[in-house]
Amino acid sequence: MANSPKFTIDGLKATIEGKEILKGLSIEIKGGEVHAVMGPNGTGKSTLASTIMGHPKYEVTDGSITLDGEDILEMGVDERARAGLFLAMQYPSEIAGVTNADFLRSAINARREEGQEISLIKFIRLMEAKMKELEMNPEFAHRYLNEGFSGGEKKRNEILQMLLLEPRLVILDEIDSGLDIDALRIVATGVNAMRSEDRGFLIITHYQRLLNYIKPDFVHVMMQGRIVKSGGPELAERLENEGYDWVKEELGIVDETVGQDTEEFKIPMNTTAPKY
Ligand SMILES: Nc1ncnc2c1ncn2[C@@H]1O[C@H](COP(=O)(O)OP(=O)(O)OP(=O)(O)O)[C@@H](O)[C@H]1O
Ligand SMILES: [Mg+2]
Repeated sequence: MANSPKFTIDGLKATIEGKEILKGLSIEIKGGEVHAVMGPNGTGKSTLASTIMGHPKYEVTDGSITLDGEDILEMGVDERARAGLFLAMQYPSEIAGVTNADFLRSAINARREEGQEISLIKFIRLMEAKMKELEMNPEFAHRYLNEGFSGGEKKRNEILQMLLLEPRLVILDEIDSGLDIDALRIVATGVNAMRSEDRGFLIITHYQRLLNYIKPDFVHVMMQGRIVKSGGPELAERLENEGYDWVKEELGIVDETVGQDTEEFKIPMNTTAPKY
C-alpha cells in the first residue's frame, strides 16, 4: 500500500483575529478510513477544515499537521491542494467569470506536472462521465462557478470536484446540508465510490442520516475547539437519540462553544437560566 496516506494532527491550536478557536486538537486519519466529526454549533469544526486547508485568516499557534510525515503547515494553499488535500466547504464560494469546466480543468492541471496536463477532449469526457454519475445537468459545466447555483446544486458541484481531483484526504464540511433526499443518496454514492486505501475522509456533519449512507469507521465529538470524545458509529446514533448533554455532563463541560469569552454565556447545565 505504497500510496496509502497517513494524515496526522497533533495538539493543534489556531486563532482568528487573536481569538483562540482550536485548543489542542489531535486526530489521525489513515487511508481507507472514514472519520466523522460531530459537535454543536460554534465548536470549531469549520475552523478545523479551513485551518487544514491553510485559510490565511487562521493562524496556527501550536501543534502540527502532517501528511505522510510532510509538514503541511509549511505549505501554501496551492501546495496543500497539490499534496492531495481537498475541502468541500460548508458555504462554497461563487466565482463570476470562471466557468465550472474551466475551473475544474485548471484544478486538475494544477495537480499535474508540467507537460502532463489533461487534454481538453479527455477532460470533457471525464467531466461528462462524472456529472452523469451525479445526475447533474450538463449545462452546469458552462455556468460560472457556483453563481446562482441552489444550495443543493453547490453541494453536488463540490462532490464533482472531489470525483475529478481524486484527493488523498477529503474533508466534507456539512455536505448534507441543503441536499434533498435523492441528492443525499447520489452524493453518498459518489463518496462511497471514492472510498479506498488511497484516501482518507474527514466528514463533518450534524446528522446521523448522512452516516447511514456513508458508514464511518470512527466518530468524534468536537467541543471547545478539541475532540473530547471518540467512538464508533454507535456514538453518532447515541448523539442522534440523546443530543449532547450527556457528553457535557460526563466531561463536566459547561459551555461547549469557543470564542465566547464572556461569563454570561457560561450558564451551568441542569439549572435554569439566571434571572436578571
Ligand atoms: N472569521 C471569524 N471571525 C470571528 N470569529 C470567528 C471567525 N471564524 C470563526 N469564528 C468563531 O469561531 C467559532 C467556531 O466557528 P466554526 O465555524 O468553526 O464553528 P462550527 O463548529 O463549524 O459551527 P457550525 O456547526 O455552526 O457550522 C464561532 O464562535 C465563530 O463565530
Ligand atoms: Mg461549520
